[in-house]
Amino acid sequence: MEQPSTGHDSVLLDEVLTYLAPAPGKVMVDCTLGRGGHTAEIARRLAPNGQVLAIDLDERNLEYARQSMEGMPCRFFNANFAQLDEVLAAAGIPAVDGILADLGVSTNQLFEDEYGMSFSRDMPLDMRLDRSAGPSAADVVNRMDADSLANVLYELAQERYSRRIARKIVEARLISPILNTGRLAEIVRMAIPKRGGAPERINPATRTFLALRMHVNREMENLGRLIELGAKALRRGGRLVVISFQSMEDRLVKQKFRSLEQAGAVRILTGRPVVPTEAETARNPRSRSAKLRALEKC
Ligand SMILES: C[S@@+](CC[C@H](N)C(=O)[O-])C[C@H]1O[C@@H](n2cnc3c(N)ncnc32)[C@H](O)[C@@H]1O
Repeated sequence: MEQPSTGHDSVLLDEVLTYLAPAPGKVMVDCTLGRGGHTAEIARRLAPNGQVLAIDLDERNLEYARQSMEGMPCRFFNANFAQLDEVLAAAGIPAVDGILADLGVSTNQLFEDEYGMSFSRDMPLDMRLDRSAGPSAADVVNRMDADSLANVLYELAQERYSRRIARKIVEARLISPILNTGRLAEIVRMAIPKRGGAPERINPATRTFLALRMHVNREMENLGRLIELGAKALRRGGRLVVISFQSMEDRLVKQKFRSLEQAGAVRILTGRPVVPTEAETARNPRSRSAKLRALEKC
């Protein structure tokens, strides 16, 4: 799949603007700045006396967006959104009118070799958004025991062949360390039983790669923390909008939103998740799996 010229097409942009309702003087947080697509549209609507606090864990995307947004009312923070409270304290902002989280990774992160996330081309296996933190995907596949590895694949991406894949990984690394995405994809392909009939619509390594990326970047943990901190940081009437791209994330968002509503802290604005229009999925096939949920602070 080709990369757009900015490196990423923003998903559900009109819907994000409808739910966040950015207007002059308001203060909002974009927890996932990425290439700056959503942030720039929000910032434009907050000018002249409002501002966006834009967060990204990946200093490479942050630098790209900072340069493309020069002169806009935006402050940039290279941080994890799971530390939203610390970012707000550092910015001297006690409460905000809106928070956006557009989860996962941007198209450029998925395809550029330096991120080591893709099986569409051979590249060094890494997957970390923050290169200064934690074990890389290569560390995980070369060190984790087979049972734990299988649990990661099953719990984060519901990989039905998780045990077979984990066993094959452990066998393969005894021969030599698994350091590239191409080799890992091949190991997964060999572990999955062949089916007759039409060829698979998705690459057999898709779920394994997704689970490893989510594990390496602690995506579920960070998301849970963000929703708790986000609900606290909103002013009364302020809104939190979360876009997720896979079922485990959407389930967590739904559960967290429900328990906040049951506690009387928020009102859920989206009974069912909002999904992209046919026109959007035709224009940007990567938006297909997006689900947007929004809440308002009571
Ligand atoms: C889907 S992209 C966002 C795209 C952006 N909305 C745009 O329009 O260009 C997700 C971004 O969130 C960042 N990210 C992922 N997890 C994060 C976390 N825990 N804290 C901060 N940023 C994170 C990624 O580095 C990536 O740049």
